[in-house]
Amino acid sequence: MLPQWIIEKKRDGAELDSVEISDFIRGYTQGDIPDYQMSALAMAIYFKGMTPRETADLTLAMMHSGKVIDPASIPGIKVDKHSTGGIGDKISIPLAPLVAACGATVPMISGRGLGITGGTLDKLESIPGYRVGLSEPEFFQTLEKVGCSMIGQTAEIAPADKKLYALRDVTATVPSIPLIVSSIMSKKMAEGIDALVLDVKCGSGAFMKSIKDARLLAQGLVDTGRAMGKKVTALITDMHQPLGRTVGNALEIQESLDILNGKGPADSQGLTIELAQRMLALAGIQITNHDSRLTDGSAMKKFKQMVKCHGGDLSAGLPTAGKQTPLPAPKSGFISKCDAEAIGRASLLLGAGRAKTTDLIDHAVGISNLRKIGERIEKGEPLCIIHSNGRENDLSPQRSCFQTLETAFQISEQPVEAPPLIIEVIQ
Ligand code: URA
Repeated sequence: MLPQWIIEKKRDGAELDSVEISDFIRGYTQGDIPDYQMSALAMAIYFKGMTPRETADLTLAMMHSGKVIDPASIPGIKVDKHSTGGIGDKISIPLAPLVAACGATVPMISGRGLGITGGTLDKLESIPGYRVGLSEPEFFQTLEKVGCSMIGQTAEIAPADKKLYALRDVTATVPSIPLIVSSIMSKKMAEGIDALVLDVKCGSGAFMKSIKDARLLAQGLVDTGRAMGKKVTALITDMHQPLGRTVGNALEIQESLDILNGKGPADSQGLTIELAQRMLALAGIQITNHDSRLTDGSAMKKFKQMVKCHGGDLSAGLPTAGKQTPLPAPKSGFISKCDAEAIGRASLLLGAGRAKTTDLIDHAVGISNLRKIGERIEKGEPLCIIHSNGRENDLSPQRSCFQTLETAFQISEQPVEAPPLIIEVIQ
């Protein structure tokens, strides 16, 4: 079947069969099908969608475009977590060592930040010396020795996704549920895991702005994971405001260390504990007081061991920005808005994120001491502290970081209830 006939079939809303999907993805990975035909198919999928069966076939085809780690080659019960991405979402960093301290193995392949959403790899790279690109033997050795390792997507894992994701980014085909599901699950299923917990973010700072779309994505991820024989749970969690009190790479590592010491902010620490409990339940590990691993030092010990195996040196200190500027509250009252999207944009303007994959980031800059919805604040007290290295007044494209942050917050005279962090659980 010629590629254009497959594109035509999807364009007209018909269901593609397994062979058509696998042939198309194989042809694209090998370079026989050009970018323009893949873009046309991605756009047809964007408009016409895919059935759960087609999505599972697309996931399998992308997963088998590269190496699939044999679960038997990694010790223990392998469980992972994936977040669809948000602002201030540093949870993977304390979570993997916490779950490892409870006896499961966490082979985590993470991503970089793009646009306003941060990436775990960029955060980890703010630790001097931390290498996200371990060789496969080093990755396996770290898992065996420590129980967790956090690396970047290698050239061997799901190469079709790597190529297709870059193409979707420039052809306006990122926000398609079957394309997002197959992209995420092809990488996760190639890790050789037994179980997966998904954290689907919903709100202004997430891909999914509405609960309806977040539900569709969460259900698509769960259905596809189960169709592939894995144990999967999805949580839909709030991303209208940032998670925790920091946004920015080194600042988020500092908050992760606080969580690993049992002294993190209530929301980010609470979500770490909740996700760990769900991962352990899927892994069949019965443990009481798993959260005590944060206060007895065992999760922190795992984190330090993992950082050492990756060549990192925590004793060298984290990078700090040249200037720290508080943003004063214009009046007293209760925080009624702390908009994740605006705070993510402000952090990008400071240099903490990338507008294009090739941009360099500044690990030291960002925003800390964020005040959250429902909290009381007095006039002049800081709504947050801006950590900058000279880009804070750049106007790009319309507003400076300060102007963007001013629009992020609203203060009400009436008490405001803090929104629930966990919106729904899809078992
Ligand atoms: N994350 C991914 O890995 N892929 C997507 O398509 C979206 C988010």
